[in-house]
Amino acid sequence: MFSDKTYSSRRALLRERVTRGGLIILPGNGEAPANYPSNTFHFRQDSTFLYFFGLNHPDMVGVLDIDAGEDTLYGDDLSMDDIIWTGPQPTVAELGARIGISQTKPLAALPEQITLALRKGRPVHFLPPYRAENKLLLSRLLGVAVDALSNYISVELALAVVSLRDKKSDEEIAEIERACEIGYQMHTTAMRMCRPGVVEREIAGAIEGVAMQYGAGVSFASIVSQHGETLHNHCYDGVLESGRLLLVDAGAETTMNYCSDFTRTFPVNGKFTQKQKDIYNIVLAANARTFELAGPEKLYRDIHLEACRVIVDGLKDLGIMQGNTDDALEAGAHALFMPHGLGHMMGIDVHDMEDIGEKYVGYDLETKRSEQLGVSALRMGRRLKPGMVMTDEPGIYFIPAYIAKWKAEGLNKAFIRFDRAEQYLDFGGIRIEDDLLITPTGNRILGKRRVPVTVEEIEAFMAEN
Ligand code: GLY
Ligand code: MN
Ligand code: MN
Repeated sequence: MFSDKTYSSRRALLRERVTRGGLIILPGNGEAPANYPSNTFHFRQDSTFLYFFGLNHPDMVGVLDIDAGEDTLYGDDLSMDDIIWTGPQPTVAELGARIGISQTKPLAALPEQITLALRKGRPVHFLPPYRAENKLLLSRLLGVAVDALSNYISVELALAVVSLRDKKSDEEIAEIERACEIGYQMHTTAMRMCRPGVVEREIAGAIEGVAMQYGAGVSFASIVSQHGETLHNHCYDGVLESGRLLLVDAGAETTMNYCSDFTRTFPVNGKFTQKQKDIYNIVLAANARTFELAGPEKLYRDIHLEACRVIVDGLKDLGIMQGNTDDALEAGAHALFMPHGLGHMMGIDVHDMEDIGEKYVGYDLETKRSEQLGVSALRMGRRLKPGMVMTDEPGIYFIPAYIAKWKAEGLNKAFIRFDRAEQYLDFGGIRIEDDLLITPTGNRILGKRRVPVTVEEIEAFMAEN
């Protein structure tokens, strides 16, 4: 945990930024049953709760009284029966003291504070809940049907939280760097294990073990697949075959739940074919273009399109695309090969603050998510600011069903050489992903060691390890 001052000053800033006054309710998460009540999923605290309260314990709720300038932590001390099963735990008062809160109360006292505020007509602010238990809690506390909760979300609170969590402090960056170092270990473990005959599951298990060994586990379910063209492929049944590529998209959380998110694609037998190298180097050039361009005040949507320009030009050189590059980009013809966005923010969530709502996190009044093919999948399009942490993850994928659909419909046929694209139907997909920090003058890559990324670095690493 950070010091109590970090959490106190974050809460004070939040109270200042929600100018309408009233109460702010920030529920933490509870344990979630997997297949019966006492067999729970790995506990994951809510990230906004972690940001303002830092406590990685289930069943706690924080309430900020903006007008009184007073914060209350609600939670129940463990009973003797709990202690028999879970071991001794700090009391809620002790937990409060660690984060600068002297006022702690049992959960049963929570409705009273909320009801009193509602009776007085004071605003009660909350963020969009994403877990059923917290939807039910807010529904009960506010007397609003679960289905109607979305009508009462506090936009002012959403914007205030995003404005604070957007900008990572030095101590947060240090945590993200730790997550990146774990990510380095995960990806180099995958490269070391990769050889014909190994089952994808063996690599997935080993790298997720690395994430557990050094931190709180993975930041999302790892993607370890020879079918890199399936973007979020969580099937690990493939047996590695010489001549194919393995895509590994994986990251870790530190014990404080800060994340990393890297992707590398490498040849199963340790040597790229010329055909693989040609596509790989286009993706690597798009990844490098992002590093050239990213900096304060730049729109990430524009950088996305510049990275896509590199992809279009590269595919034109290989005869897979054709025509005027600007026209192809405007029509979204590149989306056949790169159907996702260039990247997203990262922090305590791997897709940072995605629960709060994309229109407040990835977009704003100036930039709305476009419906245009080629940019419509971009999660984050707005202006960059110093302190933001972004991913840079271009890719080129040959998705047989998608190619067949476009060909059948004649979609963007002025820009796509379908006969040439069809020569890649068994190619798979390539993605390269790094994490970067926006600095006052530009950006810097995160992680003290970059996972091998050039063709030469990967081939040398795989030959030596
Ligand atoms: N693994 C999901 C992503 O890279 O966004
Ligand atoms: Mn990723
Ligand atoms: Mn990512």
